[in-house]
Amino acid sequence: MHADHSGRKEAREEGEKARALLAKSRAGSAAAGDEPILEVRDLVKHYPLTQGILIKKQIGAVKAVDGVSFDLAAGETLGIVGESGCGKSTVAKMLVHLEQPTAGAIKYKGEDITKLSGRALKAVRRNIQMVFQDPYTSLNPRMTVGDIIGEPYEIHPEVAPKGERRRKVQDLLDVVGLNPEYINRYPHQFSGGQRQRIGIARGLALNPEIIVADEPVSALDVSVQAQVVNLLDRLQAEFGLAYVFIAHDLSIVRHISDRVGVMYLGRIVEIGSDEQIYDHPTHPYTQALLSAVPVPDPAAREHRERIILHGDVPSPANPPSGCRFRTRCWKAQERCELEVPLLAVPAVFRLADTPAGHDSACHFAEEKQVVPPEGLLEAPGETTAEEDGPSQGVDGENGPAPSGSTRAR
Ligand SMILES: Nc1ncnc2c1ncn2[C@@H]1O[C@H](COP(=O)(O)OP(=O)(O)O)[C@@H](O)[C@H]1O
Ligand code: SF4
Ligand SMILES: [Mg+2]
Repeated sequence: MHADHSGRKEAREEGEKARALLAKSRAGSAAAGDEPILEVRDLVKHYPLTQGILIKKQIGAVKAVDGVSFDLAAGETLGIVGESGCGKSTVAKMLVHLEQPTAGAIKYKGEDITKLSGRALKAVRRNIQMVFQDPYTSLNPRMTVGDIIGEPYEIHPEVAPKGERRRKVQDLLDVVGLNPEYINRYPHQFSGGQRQRIGIARGLALNPEIIVADEPVSALDVSVQAQVVNLLDRLQAEFGLAYVFIAHDLSIVRHISDRVGVMYLGRIVEIGSDEQIYDHPTHPYTQALLSAVPVPDPAAREHRERIILHGDVPSPANPPSGCRFRTRCWKAQERCELEVPLLAVPAVFRLADTPAGHDSACHFAEEKQVVPPEGLLEAPGETTAEEDGPSQGVDGENGPAPSGSTRAR
């Protein structure tokens, strides 16, 4: 109806103004200095292994995360990569307080949030939101999109009083490239990429400063992945968001990350700027992961050395002594078995001004360019992609995503 329509338009314009203001203030804080917004120190999560039915006895622990440290600056993206089971999701869950750490600190603007409770914790949680891996299972199928995106307002009514919620949710749909008219539809009426846009809209609902995205595109068709990554990129520029972007695929992380941390069996083994990690890796595990990145350019592919890792990832309940990577490392020596390599700039690079001089937990760190820089898969935005964006209907012709076969387990 006409009156309705003009009311909506006015409301939308107001929303746009509010968003512009928010974007300004966020971008300002991102530029205000490199003070970390988040400092993670020696984070540990051990899950007890028990035996017995009636009387449970602890017989060990799954060391899912075993001493992870990193900083995150306002407005930056830290990529975290590593094979399945290395502890990425557990780190993510601790950051958003879905899991309580066994030990360690997570400082948000200098305050250790693992020690907070009640109102203080609630206020901090608002600023650190999560986007989940699987948009098929993370959205409640019985709730409308409007209720899903607006759910955080039930816990934080101060962000959007009841009368304003519908408009806020429609604004959020618009921001993530979905038609605001779809507010009353159900998740099954959307494709995989659209569902992940809904998950992102929910993550944005409380105007957070940090988004922890746990493999946000792994469950999506390759053709749709680039669009969702590009959306996250745009939202970061618009709202000055900081991301912890988790993936097992190094090529996707490169496009979006300022810095990258590589995890293996509960620890970060190498961390640095994207140039340092991709063009000057010094840890054998990073080099092996990089050697598996798809290289689109056939000439570059010829020069690429494939490093095949043998054996399985050991159990985190019983990790190898010394360097945890030693059972699969082609450079392993006796020292690797006896001495835990610390995550620091290796001595050989300490005095030289070289991009290889970044933190790497290896006794025998050496620079090795695995792939010629120009040969690496660059921006995933450049891949040709089926449109999955706002103009696509959800009335059946575009139905649920046909991507079941590519779902991550
Ligand atoms: N609730 C839990 N109880 C016991 N073990 C768990 C639990 N959650 C995760 N793990 C184990 O911790 C390790 C790390 O898991 P996860 O953080 O999910 O890894 P990733 O996200 O890198 O695949 C795995 O060995 C996993 O089986
Ligand atoms: S410390 Fe030894 S086993 Fe570990 S990555 Fe370095 S060379 Fe390999
Ligand atoms: Mg995971």
